[in-house]
Amino acid sequence: MKNVIELRKLSKVYKDVTTVNLEKITVREGEIYGFLGPNGAGKTTTMKMVLSLVTPTSGEILVNGQNVKKDKTYLNQIGSMIEEPS
Ligand SMILES: Nc1ncnc2c1ncn2[C@@H]1O[C@H](COP(=O)(O)OP(=O)(O)OP(=O)(O)O)[C@@H](O)[C@H]1O
Ligand SMILES: [Mg+2]
Repeated sequence: MKNVIELRKLSKVYKDVTTVNLEKITVREGEIYGFLGPNGAGKTTTMKMVLSLVTPTSGEILVNGQNVKKDKTYLNQIGSMIEEPS
């Protein structure tokens, strides 16, 4: 099965505070993936980076094998609701 999402050494630093620091996450096609963690762990920030709503400090995000930094057309294939849909 192909990987639909790959996060590699992904980080986000706001001022001096590291809010996301991930070694690797892989989501394969057809998988239902639960992304769990305590309040403030960086889940929403990570999802916003996958959606190009937040720019990563370092690392790589691949969706369907393509680096999202270069080409945003992948967003045409994604539905999302981040936190409060209202
Ligand atoms: N725009 C921002 N500027 C500065 N700090 C931020 C910003 N957005 C988030 N943070 C901080 O980053 C950390 C991670 O926040 P995030 O909202 O990603 O966590 P979360 O895992 O989604 O939490 P929750 O379970 O409460 O939804 C928190 O300490 C938060 O205060
Ligand atoms: Mg959240």
